Amino acid sequence: MTDKKKSVHDAWSSRFAFILAATGSAVGLGNIWKFPYITGEHGGGAFVFVYLACVLLIGIPIMIAETMLGRRSQRNPIETMELLTEEAGADKNWHYLGWMGVIAGLLILSYYSVIAGWASAYIVKAFTGSFFDADAVAIKGIFTGFVGSPMQLIFWHSLFMAATMLIVVRGVKNGLEKAVRFLMPSLFLLLLILVGYAMTTDSYFQGLHFLFVPEFSKLTSDSVLTAMGHAFFTLSLGMGAIMVYGSYLPKGISIAKTAFLIAGADTVVALLAGIAIFPIVFANNLHPDTGPGLIFQTLPIAFGAMTGGWLMGILFFVMLTIAALTSSISLIEPAVAWLVENKGFSREKACVWSGLATWLLGLGTVFSFNVWSNVKFFDRSIFQLLDYLTANLMLPIGGFCIAVFAGWIMKRQHSEQELNMPTALSYQAWKILISYVAPLAVFFVFLHVVGVL
Ligand code: PFF
Repeated sequence: MTDKKKSVHDAWSSRFAFILAATGSAVGLGNIWKFPYITGEHGGGAFVFVYLACVLLIGIPIMIAETMLGRRSQRNPIETMELLTEEAGADKNWHYLGWMGVIAGLLILSYYSVIAGWASAYIVKAFTGSFFDADAVAIKGIFTGFVGSPMQLIFWHSLFMAATMLIVVRGVKNGLEKAVRFLMPSLFLLLLILVGYAMTTDSYFQGLHFLFVPEFSKLTSDSVLTAMGHAFFTLSLGMGAIMVYGSYLPKGISIAKTAFLIAGADTVVALLAGIAIFPIVFANNLHPDTGPGLIFQTLPIAFGAMTGGWLMGILFFVMLTIAALTSSISLIEPAVAWLVENKGFSREKACVWSGLATWLLGLGTVFSFNVWSNVKFFDRSIFQLLDYLTANLMLPIGGFCIAVFAGWIMKRQHSEQELNMPTALSYQAWKILISYVAPLAVFFVFLHVVGVL
């Protein structure tokens, strides 16, 4: 392809390094904090069913497309869209897609960092033994006291943003590979132990029933939109994060296989979190629709009650924080890569500016849990509004455009060459999913939400 400008990009050391980084981006608060609480709010099984269908039919094909676009151009998302439109001889306006991604990333990170701050604060709470023998009421008291204090939330939000920026300054490769390599297996193990604890409660099967037996009558159009939006959110799709990582991917590596692996790992982590949490919810007469505080009001009960719970609690929140870190760096990387590669910023300067802007915006989320809890836009708090705007609207719209671009605008011979699938049939299957199934599904869900269908 045309080499307009020399790429200043790093490259991953291997396919495995890419898998680690992309899994690090995908697995995060979305799986352990968000999936359980939105599943609880939207009635369980049927919501999970729609979410799984969206991962399979929309998420995976778009993950393949996003990785492919990034790798083909080896540039940041904005430049990727510019270059690839030029290559396809298409309209220039496609680069706005890259823009939307950069903005969505910063918006998401602004609230992501606040919640990640909660996870970090809970490391200290676990360490000081706050959960020891505490019942559901006491654990709830700890949570409401904590989120009611703006100063505490600001402190932890700032700490988390600073940690994110420190890692991003050093470039995506350094440290990230190592962090994820140890993180994933340990997180997996801890979740298994928590599932083990959930089995000892007498509500284990009630939890499983809630999670896996669909009652489709409970689904509203809003639930379907949330489930679809979550498929994008949890796989880090629709905003260029995976595109950036794809741009560091060496040529000649199978993108499709890699996407299946990443999406599979991501889904397993989310389901395990759900299996661990809902039995605790029911065993303690809590409500599944507790909202964003759900994991903070359930898992500490387990840590307070089980043998070895003190250490487990510390480890769990440490790992949740690291999982959030490996996601947050991918949320800000598109902005940083663009400032460095197009605006001539030094990496340090790019990090400071984008980090500061995100931190400032995050204060809106901080206050929405306390002093501004009554401030509502369209019936939503600032946090809920940001979440809705990004996960339910911007990511699916971004994903829709990526699907249309990969399926309709990009020349077939280019995508075929870049994907290099083992059989013509697998390429064809992807092509149908990306050209028809994924965009139409997103389109119909939107139509349904605005009441046209
Ligand atoms: N996938 C991350 C999670 O599930 O926590 C969140 C996320 C990261 C969303 C990167 C979007 C993104 F681009």
